[in-house]
Amino acid sequence: MLPSTAQLRQTGGRELKRIVFDEATIAARVRELGREITAAYPEGDLLVLGLLKGSFIFLSDLVRRIDRPLQVDFLVAASYGDSTVSSGNVRLLYDPETELEGKHILLVEDIIDTGKTLNRLVTLLRQRGPKSLSICALLHKHIAKHLELEAAFVGFDAPKLFLVGYGLDHAENFRHLPYIASLT
Ligand code: IMP
Ligand code: MG
Repeated sequence: MLPSTAQLRQTGGRELKRIVFDEATIAARVRELGREITAAYPEGDLLVLGLLKGSFIFLSDLVRRIDRPLQVDFLVAASYGDSTVSSGNVRLLYDPETELEGKHILLVEDIIDTGKTLNRLVTLLRQRGPKSLSICALLHKHIAKHLELEAAFVGFDAPKLFLVGYGLDHAENFRHLPYIASLT
């Protein structure tokens, strides 16, 4: 399929390989996830904790589909080391100001790849004494060897390709695309 002129305007002329999940497909699944999450938390305080930057579009669409009171905060995590060293170490550049103790925490992630980021964050967040801790990931590549905590809510099983759009970036580009595409 030839890319539309609107698509080429948004990417600055760079052609993407293929649209993997289009806008309508994402919107329908996010609506369902909102229903699943609403049903999963009949009571208690719910804090939706978005992992920046990748989750920003997904989270903003998702919380509008959750039909119960909730609070929103964010985490900014950074990996130590350079790209050749897969250390799996994570430090927080922004720590939520909201109290986590006694609340249901729903950690929202854009994509689970190796799972290293989430494994470190889960360990860290458990130390804050939440009432419960669950993960909602828009995409899951199902290649992680070990997950401290499996995602309770998953938007889509993702192909093992490098994906961009709807929050996901390549070198900080393409986050604003309203669909999810593969780059290669
Ligand atoms: P993990 O720690 O290997 O699971 O890495 C997760 C993070 O890597 C995600 O939050 C993304 O920021 C990034 N990532 C992994 N796979 C992709 C991809 O296909 N496209 C864009 N970013 C990705
Ligand atoms: Mg990234």
